[in-house]
Amino acid sequence: MLCIGHRGARGHAPENTLLSIRTALQLGAKAIEIDVYCCEGELVVIHDDTVDRTTNGHGPIDRFTLADLRQLDAGKGERIPLLHEVMDLLEGKAAINIELKGTGTAAPTAAMIDHYRQRGWHEDTILVSSFDWSLLAEFRQLDGHSRIGLLTEHAYSPRLDEATQQLGSCAWHCHLSHATTTMRQQAHTQQQALYVYTVNAADDIQRMQQLGVDGVFTDYPERAIPYQASTDNGFCPPPARCGS
Ligand code: G3P
Ligand code: MG
Repeated sequence: MLCIGHRGARGHAPENTLLSIRTALQLGAKAIEIDVYCCEGELVVIHDDTVDRTTNGHGPIDRFTLADLRQLDAGKGERIPLLHEVMDLLEGKAAINIELKGTGTAAPTAAMIDHYRQRGWHEDTILVSSFDWSLLAEFRQLDGHSRIGLLTEHAYSPRLDEATQQLGSCAWHCHLSHATTTMRQQAHTQQQALYVYTVNAADDIQRMQQLGVDGVFTDYPERAIPYQASTDNGFCPPPARCGS
């Protein structure tokens, strides 16, 4: 079961910062999840559409220049990272799940993935996800091959099967409360990996392993490491169906 450090290692360091990601790597996570918005054409790593909760600034991201955004303190003196800084940090060390949060993120994400694929990143080390499936459709138009994960806040429904076919996804990402035998069986029937967010309690992590899910997003990577196999090196291993 793949251990996916949620926003890095959010339980130990300011979320979505390079410090958080470094911490997750030190703890042994083989994959990292981060969230991206677009600011002046650059992908910035932050979860909310405002800076208020995670920085010392105030206001919506789209009111900031990139330079001003980068001046903010994201906790412990960390800056809001650019996506390419995160990719550079992870290169050769762990896989990345890029969660598209805002409008305008699909095109620069496709361009960046193309760049890193040419630098030698393997296809199973990059997974693009979003709750906003229209953003994933936009991404798929631009990139016919990269791995896509469908994020859902809901219990299993045939909408997931339909979107799987339309988008050529390889994974479903469901909330812990909806991680049931039905969800796991349906995902695997559709040849989708099942990744579950956000699983922090040790007994829940163990339960997910017993349920047979393929990975968990956790703020505390060290709690999922005991369940991570040496073969858990990337997203959507066979027999999951990947790309279009
Ligand atoms: O991608 C898994 C998880 O991060 C989704 O929820 O709100 O933490 O981005 P959120
Ligand atoms: Mg996220």
